[in-house]
Amino acid sequence: MNFHKRVDHLAIPTIRNDPFQWPRPCLSSGKTQLLGVFGDPIAHSLSPVIHNLALSHLDLDYHYLPFHVTPEHLPQAVHGFRILGGKGFNATVPHKEALVALMDDLSDAAIRTGAVNTVSCQDRLIGHNTDGHGFLAALRDMRPDFPQGGKALILGAGGAARSVLSALLTTSIEAIFLANRTEERAQALARFFAPHDTQRRIQPMALVVDQLPWREITLLVNTTSLGLKGETTLPVALHRLPADAFVYDIVYGPQGTPLTRLAQRHGLQTMDGMGMLVHQAAAAFHLWTQHEMPIAIIKDHLRQRANADRQKAD
Ligand SMILES: NC(=O)c1ccc[n+]([C@@H]2O[C@H](COP(=O)([O-])OP(=O)(O)OC[C@H]3O[C@@H](n4cnc5c(N)ncnc54)[C@H](OP(=O)(O)O)[C@@H]3O)[C@@H](O)[C@H]2O)c1
Repeated sequence: MNFHKRVDHLAIPTIRNDPFQWPRPCLSSGKTQLLGVFGDPIAHSLSPVIHNLALSHLDLDYHYLPFHVTPEHLPQAVHGFRILGGKGFNATVPHKEALVALMDDLSDAAIRTGAVNTVSCQDRLIGHNTDGHGFLAALRDMRPDFPQGGKALILGAGGAARSVLSALLTTSIEAIFLANRTEERAQALARFFAPHDTQRRIQPMALVVDQLPWREITLLVNTTSLGLKGETTLPVALHRLPADAFVYDIVYGPQGTPLTRLAQRHGLQTMDGMGMLVHQAAAAFHLWTQHEMPIAIIKDHLRQRANADRQKAD
């Protein structure tokens, strides 16, 4: 028998020679540490892909698993994860705000945002929020000088808008128009941020296209969930934006999103939410492992994977 052929046949593909082989083979040692993400739903989450790819690339002895946790079981899930010795976890919809009350300590970003997306389990449970950092870091990858002054229009006032507002308030942006389908939600968010918004930069309003100040806007950010499933119904008037306006959709897709594609047809510079997703993950990864996530490799893998999924669907 040809020994080499047999070994080839039995070889376990690794992420380095087969980037689409997921999940990676479970080769736990006795010291493997547990990371994860809690959400409801959770199966769609790319966080396990991102973190396991980074862990594998850096040869770190951790596993990152998705956990389907319903809102009524969140306190028990947090307690159980900690008892089992978990090192840390991320949280996605709908847990980010509820986690605040379950933490022993909160980072400044978590306090400012009123939401937790990353938990470190040490002697105490520490709640962080890395979404705002992810939002700005991705923006500055593309526009290092941005935003310097100027005015932003944020569409949506849900959990993601909280992180975007919290991040933009740390910049020199002059005004932030916060437009939401349900206007009261935008007003409630402006009230929440009032203590950090001493210059009253946030102006809540209803998402009514003809009433929005398009001609003044230098940064348009979509934080609504529209576009996630390819919907093109987001009410916008991109032709009224200045030619140098930047369009940032925090939703992401294989070839951008309906909004970024539309904005490109208007000659505007755009970015989707893939960079934000990877940067918020990288900040959480660093909190848990003290290692830098290989961001360029992860982004490249996610784009290839999304393209492969799209080709399969066509
Ligand atoms: N790239 C990243 O790293 C990242 C991070 C976080 C979130 N996200 C994405 O951000 C999006 C929003 O997440 P979220 O947590 O903020 O969700 P959320 O709390 O459920 O908020 C959803 C927002 O979308 C608005 N909306 C929903 N359907 C609408 C419609 N038909 N017309 C107009 N507005 C509509 C809602 O308005 P109402 O208040 O009127 O319902 C609300 O403002 C999701 O697609 C999520 O995947 C991306």
